[in-house]
Amino acid sequence: MANEILNMRPAVEDPATGIDDKKLVAVNMSACLADSYILMVKTQGYHWNAVGPLFRSVHMLTEEHYQNLFEAIDNLAERVRALGYPAPASITQMIGLAAIQEDTENPTTEKMIKNLVNDHEIVARRFRESVERAEEAGDVVTADMLTARIAFHEKAIWMLGALLSE
Ligand SMILES: [Fe+2]
Repeated sequence: MANEILNMRPAVEDPATGIDDKKLVAVNMSACLADSYILMVKTQGYHWNAVGPLFRSVHMLTEEHYQNLFEAIDNLAERVRALGYPAPASITQMIGLAAIQEDTENPTTEKMIKNLVNDHEIVARRFRESVERAEEAGDVVTADMLTARIAFHEKAIWMLGALLSE
């Protein structure tokens, strides 16, 4: 699926804004978008299905997180467009591009929290690599956007992890 994105042609002929390899940045950005998308869906599913003593905390925190992710994916997709490339726009493409897996089980609430912590870690690492690629291409705007997203994921790791701390 990533190859399909790689084969896409720019929708606008090479906007001349001084970025070295817009395609590489757009492909990386599309992957970050897909990770955010899958994480949003997973987070909202856990928001619905959490149970037990942590219900209220998990329900509230996951709501904050999926709303944040919803807003973020729009910005990430629009950045791909501004680079001149089509944004991935189907669930199939999102699943193919994402580094994290969707969850079709109904895990315990403790396992939900652990899964989310793990996913936020994976996403933060992938975004960090994408910041480096964007910087190498001279795309400071993408690098800034992704850097801000890393801060969100690191905070999410802290807050979710705190729910399980003794
Ligand atoms: Fe809700």
